[in-house]
Amino acid sequence: MCGIIGYNGKRIDTLKILIDGLNSLEYRGYDSSGIAFKTNKINIIKSVGKVCELEKKIDSNIKTNIGIGHTRWATHGKVSELNSHPHNVGDITIVHNGIIENFKDIRNDLLKQNYKFNTETDTEVACALIDYYYKKYKDIKIALNHFEKKVRGSFALAIMVNNNDNLYAIRKNSPLIIAKNKDGNYISSDSIAVSKYSNNILYLEENVIAEISAKSVKLFNKDLKEIKPKFTKIDISKEDADKCGYAHYMLKEIHDEPRVFKNTTNQFIYNQIESLLKDMPNFTKYNNIHIVACGSAYHAGLVGKYLIEEYASIPVTVEIASEYRYKKPFYNKKTLVIVVSQSGETADTLAALRMANDDNIDTLGIVNVETSTISRESKMVIYLKAGKEIAVATTKAYLAQITVFALIALNIAIKNKTLSEKEINTILNDINKLPVYLEEIIKQDIYQIIATNIYKNDNIFLIGRGIDYALAMEGALKLKEISYINCQGYAAGELKHGTISLIEKNTPVIGILTDDNISEKTISNLEEVKSRGALIVGITNDTKINNFDYLISIPKIHKLLQPILTILPLQIISYEVAKLRKCDIDKPKNLAKSVTVE
Ligand code: G6P
Repeated sequence: MCGIIGYNGKRIDTLKILIDGLNSLEYRGYDSSGIAFKTNKINIIKSVGKVCELEKKIDSNIKTNIGIGHTRWATHGKVSELNSHPHNVGDITIVHNGIIENFKDIRNDLLKQNYKFNTETDTEVACALIDYYYKKYKDIKIALNHFEKKVRGSFALAIMVNNNDNLYAIRKNSPLIIAKNKDGNYISSDSIAVSKYSNNILYLEENVIAEISAKSVKLFNKDLKEIKPKFTKIDISKEDADKCGYAHYMLKEIHDEPRVFKNTTNQFIYNQIESLLKDMPNFTKYNNIHIVACGSAYHAGLVGKYLIEEYASIPVTVEIASEYRYKKPFYNKKTLVIVVSQSGETADTLAALRMANDDNIDTLGIVNVETSTISRESKMVIYLKAGKEIAVATTKAYLAQITVFALIALNIAIKNKTLSEKEINTILNDINKLPVYLEEIIKQDIYQIIATNIYKNDNIFLIGRGIDYALAMEGALKLKEISYINCQGYAAGELKHGTISLIEKNTPVIGILTDDNISEKTISNLEEVKSRGALIVGITNDTKINNFDYLISIPKIHKLLQPILTILPLQIISYEVAKLRKCDIDKPKNLAKSVTVE
């Protein structure tokens, strides 16, 4: 989703800083970009398409020490140069992440004040509103203070003012950081854009105005009293922000998975079972759990439901955050609300968390980005430790999410004594072996062969039962996201109730069969579609099953951990199919990595 970068300092190659920053924000998803910078006046350059298109329009000889930049992901107003940011009205120039919900009312008020609008965007209205207050109060901080009170919705704003050598920043429901080093000060919506320059970061609080000069960062609270800035040193691993020789971030992140599994589990299992019990929240006090998330994190929640219900016998409901936040929540004092999010900034997931917090319900965030809003606002938090994930389509963070759910189920099962000692030892042994198994699965060469046989199809189906159904849904989402093929994950037994009419000669149906108790049923469902011409691909841990057109064999491990192996072939097939279809794998069209609007 949209990205912000800004610089004010002693360097005169600000345009390079802005372009580098925008390039590193590309992974979040965008459709146009732009910069504003000061010479003897404020200049604005914008372009639709990739940042390299913007770069072509910029004279690299221009020297300036102050500027702001933006990658836009269109929400209000189509993708166009006019609608892209920065926007300028009167004395004010801004870049904006988020959505101003009451912009139509504000626009109508401002029209009466003789403001004219050239675009359909909420951002131009925001810019005009700041200009209106600035002209009225002749002080930018007072103007921003009034702006914050007037608007509803979400915003992260970097602001330039005519005849003023500072940058200004404010935010609400959308993240913004300030970084500093000896050369100057940086603003960004994402620490990755400044990781090259500084790891000394300030997380801007809501209702605080930042005044950023070339030498200093001053903060003002809602009464416009100056408050002390608190910078913290964060760990931004260079390796995470690099492709390390892989053709795509997604491929690199898939190859990261064995290491990620170790990192995720090592937080809790460093001293056998004792540490697992000690370092996790006390789940046994809850008699029901709500898991709330969006996209792949929601699918991880579905896996979590199967594992927690099966091994911990606590009823779990899994809800899409954008639905949950607007429905009547059925929780009680013994409910735990778990929100799952890679980015920790997804607007709907954050709103669901805030709703539960406001209702005094215990909340647990399962989050990758440790500095994110969801990490900070969850009453309890478990980190995924997956490292920076750059490809829009999640792979390693999803694997870490289902790993955390397996550990939660194991933790409760041990405490409630629902697993025998022998079984617990088998699970601990399998946890040790799992990274090697993941490596072995990655090394297989069957994926390209399968991809070659399915990549031209318009429809692909993935089917499974139980936990394999939850994995089928994630596999289907992965294929849809990066290869743009219409793909559905289905409960194997449900296909015949309508959807089977879509099966034609050579329609690929990928069957996932990892549970001996119900595999035979899924095999029957695969036979049904095979007899109607479908091309059958099987992913199984059962060496006796071989009646497929193509077979992917995966190691058999304890059922609690099996999904962690099973998801990997689905991710790799998606990658190979998208590659053959020549899609933009790391930055699929229309998608954003972090969805900070409703
Ligand atoms: C976006 C991404 C999805 C992701 C979802 C939830 O839609 O494109 O891949 O699963 O957001 O993101 P989160 O950061 O909350 O896990």
